[in-house]
Amino acid sequence: MKARILFVCLGNICRSPMAEAVMRHQVELVHLSESIEVDSAGTGDWHLGHPPHEGTRKQLDQHLISYQGMKARLVTTGDFETFDYIVCMDTNNLRDVRKLLSKAEGEGERTRLFTFMELLPDKGMADVPDPYYDGNFSFVYELVESGCKELLKRVRADLKLV
Ligand code: 4NP
Repeated sequence: MKARILFVCLGNICRSPMAEAVMRHQVELVHLSESIEVDSAGTGDWHLGHPPHEGTRKQLDQHLISYQGMKARLVTTGDFETFDYIVCMDTNNLRDVRKLLSKAEGEGERTRLFTFMELLPDKGMADVPDPYYDGNFSFVYELVESGCKELLKRVRADLKLV
């Protein structure tokens, strides 16, 4: 059994690529790359084909986490067939992904769709704040690192790999 995880944000250059890279790194550290695949996508098309934002790259560089080859892409209805978990970085992304899902007839039945901050209920935050606007990439990194640890626990339990 394999688990496939897709992180979704607006531009796919700041938050979701950070989550993708951090999650993949955490999966590699516990030698589960054969069982858990990770990707990311955006709901907006302004940055298609672009690498992660400089602020995201800086955080990943500081933590020695690779983002090699990562490029922004749009979330598609096909993603509901491919991915077991679609994790939206904020509630607007969740609304947009749900809208897309309503157009994808018969797909997405097995996809678990939720927001990233549902992984960190103690924070009392609905959204991962968008650093594209406030520049606070280090705060987002802290949230992403903690949330990915929780997601890894959840996925391992679902796959019975605990
Ligand atoms: P992200 O941040 O959704 O975390 O990638 C943004 C990136 C780009 C834009 C907005 C948010 N933009 O408007 O171009």
